[in-house]
Amino acid sequence: MPSESEPATTQRAKVLNASTHKMAIAWPTNFKRAWEEIWVPEIEQIPKGICITGMGGSAIGGDLCKTILGPVLSLPLETVKGYELPAWVGDGWLVIAISYSGNTEETLQTFSMAGERGCSRLVITTGGELARVAEDDGVSVVRVPGGYQPRAALPFLLAPLLKILSIWCEDVGEPEVERVCEELAKELAEGAFSSTKQLARELQGNSVVIYGWEQFEAVAYRWQTQLNENAKVMVFHQCLPEANHNDIVGWESAPENMVVVLLRSHLEPRQVRRRFKLTWELVWQPRAKKVLEVEAKGDARLGQVLWLLTFGDLVSLHLADMQGVEAEPVEVIESLKTALSQQGE
Ligand code: PA5
Repeated sequence: MPSESEPATTQRAKVLNASTHKMAIAWPTNFKRAWEEIWVPEIEQIPKGICITGMGGSAIGGDLCKTILGPVLSLPLETVKGYELPAWVGDGWLVIAISYSGNTEETLQTFSMAGERGCSRLVITTGGELARVAEDDGVSVVRVPGGYQPRAALPFLLAPLLKILSIWCEDVGEPEVERVCEELAKELAEGAFSSTKQLARELQGNSVVIYGWEQFEAVAYRWQTQLNENAKVMVFHQCLPEANHNDIVGWESAPENMVVVLLRSHLEPRQVRRRFKLTWELVWQPRAKKVLEVEAKGDARLGQVLWLLTFGDLVSLHLADMQGVEAEPVEVIESLKTALSQQGE
């Protein structure tokens, strides 16, 4: 029941955003289902390296795979978000092009470039032009369920990608996915994420910077982009240790309403923990309006990443409710794509 003290815009937004909330809460169920049910091809030849190309909500899965598998993956893994493949991606490499719609200009170009360079190729999509050109070229297409915004479909995009890559690493496989998803689903059911609403309240109306450990940069970036796209607010992210070498100087003229969110992990090395502590004391505590900390639950990277992603998604959706905005549409992205498709050079 909506509370009587809530503004009408919040009540309206809650109704509009109800299905997006459900989708966020279904993260572990959808991820596990996608792992079990989405067909992925067997890669017969071990590639020299893997290059994942895509943009926005379709690209983040590649970055997250680097975070999850980075320390245990036995092959080079490169991610490309743009029009160009690096010069060293060529014969013997596997290029995985991901586009939820299948119509993203940059991804279509890198897919075609990979073909010209003689790379092995694979596509993850719902269809569109990418599926069409892939099928024409005899390239395997991993089909994911349609009907969502690309960023909301992340469980469906990430699971098959991780499954393909997991053949080259020991630690991530079906038993680990099952265990992690069951734990996350249990925590969601038991209300472990109820503090996401309070965190959204702390962010509302303020300037926000998300800081994470460099190995978890993709997670901090996903928090940023979910807050940008769901709640329609300007947010930035930074990582430690790099931010200790530049960003912290900017705090000398920081506005008064800066809120810092620290995404923490017990996997951080000792030196990084020390940097978080000292940066808190020397920079954030004296200059920020608030410093808030979110500690990832879970014993290993997969669990921690999924836990933090779920937490961040829920914060962004609560903030969308509070802002009185509809989380799902991203009109400006659509308008820009339309304008790009209409204009010539
Ligand atoms: O969140 C979004 O809608 C965007 O970031 C899209 O994912 C991005 O524009 C790329 O489109 P697609 O995912 O269809 O390739």
